[in-house]
Amino acid sequence: MNIFEELGGKNSVFKCKKYLDHRFLPDNLPHRDDQIKSVAKYWIEALKGVTPPDVTIYGKTGTGKTAVAKFARKQLESISKEKDVNVRVEYIRCTDYTTEYQVIARLCQQMGQDVPYRGWTKAEVVHAFRDLFKKNVFGKNLILMIILDEIDILLKNDGDGLLYTLTRTENVSIASISNYVDFKQFIKPRVKSSLRDREIVFPPYNAQQLVDILKERSKLSFEDGVLNGDVIPLCAAMAAKEEGDARYALDLLRTSGELADEKGSETVYEDYVREAKEYIEHNKVTDIIMTLPSQQQKVLESILYLTKRKEEITSGRLYDVYKEFSKGDSVSYRRIFDFINELEMLGLISTKTISRGRGKGRTNIIDLQCDTELLEDAMWENN
Ligand SMILES: Nc1ncnc2c1ncn2[C@@H]1O[C@H](COP(=O)(O)OP(=O)(O)OP(=O)(O)O)[C@@H](O)[C@H]1O
Ligand SMILES: [Mg+2]
Repeated sequence: MNIFEELGGKNSVFKCKKYLDHRFLPDNLPHRDDQIKSVAKYWIEALKGVTPPDVTIYGKTGTGKTAVAKFARKQLESISKEKDVNVRVEYIRCTDYTTEYQVIARLCQQMGQDVPYRGWTKAEVVHAFRDLFKKNVFGKNLILMIILDEIDILLKNDGDGLLYTLTRTENVSIASISNYVDFKQFIKPRVKSSLRDREIVFPPYNAQQLVDILKERSKLSFEDGVLNGDVIPLCAAMAAKEEGDARYALDLLRTSGELADEKGSETVYEDYVREAKEYIEHNKVTDIIMTLPSQQQKVLESILYLTKRKEEITSGRLYDVYKEFSKGDSVSYRRIFDFINELEMLGLISTKTISRGRGKGRTNIIDLQCDTELLEDAMWENN
């Protein structure tokens, strides 16, 4: 028997797994009506031929920001076609295109203009982009909506030049998506004032909302009756604890199903969800650590060391330990703050500022946000 037939013929609890994939965009997004309406309320201007205000979408990871933005894009595209209005919506994930140059080059490419990803000056790329409007490549009065997803790191590393350029291009409306509440600190006043932005906040999902989301998705993806009674509530409860992350909830459900298949079980049991949780967390931390530069890993190692000793971790103390660990090959004290920031954005640590009382100033305290054993395993595997 052919190996693929043999594997393919195996019984599975899944009807169609793709509906649990992150990239799948459902037609229905429970508990996001308000956010969808908020976006639509601004974007509707485009249908009247007016450039909509810029919007900023904030929220923690897995709260549906990307899904809502893509959903709104689909709807706007379809209605503008119907009404014959000249609107385009371009989506860019700024973790794939990490500088102003790259984003604008990508925009040009998506709009059919061949611009190289390197080699030109920034001015040349911007010029090519603006030419698309000047020369009416897409007809007169084009309104261009640009979704800049995951914009935080770009702003932090490349500055606000991208926003400066785009806000100064007529007929362009920006929707930036961020999960770092503080991201506006990277935008200078000259840009802030022209970014006529409206903020839309995405609160974390609670357990009940996650149940609704999972039910909907599981109907499409699992065979009838294979999920034991508490599987969905358990996935939802675990994800609600992880700051209401719907992606995590979906991962738990999918991995639990995969475990059932692996074990040859026709039912997904609650225990598989617990097993799935361990598996996912292990992978998540291992993946992050593998991509960290080695100096960054040393910083994390130092945090782990101090955490295990139950010491309070101030940046000063951290730097001392880090210097020991890196054996002379260390970066400056200032650079450590960048590392701390990045580790925080990755969700591996959290920081808080505390006041030591009158006259003693304020201190930054660092807390590890993942299990010490898990982290240790992952670091060990990586070495
Ligand atoms: N209301 C919802 N209904 C159905 N699925 C949802 C809903 N909200 C989120 N999801 C799903 O959960 C996953 C995560 O959502 P999404 O990618 O939109 O989160 P995000 O806020 O962009 O997160 P991040 O900040 O990490 O990019 C996606 O697979 C998405 O389809
Ligand atoms: Mg997203």
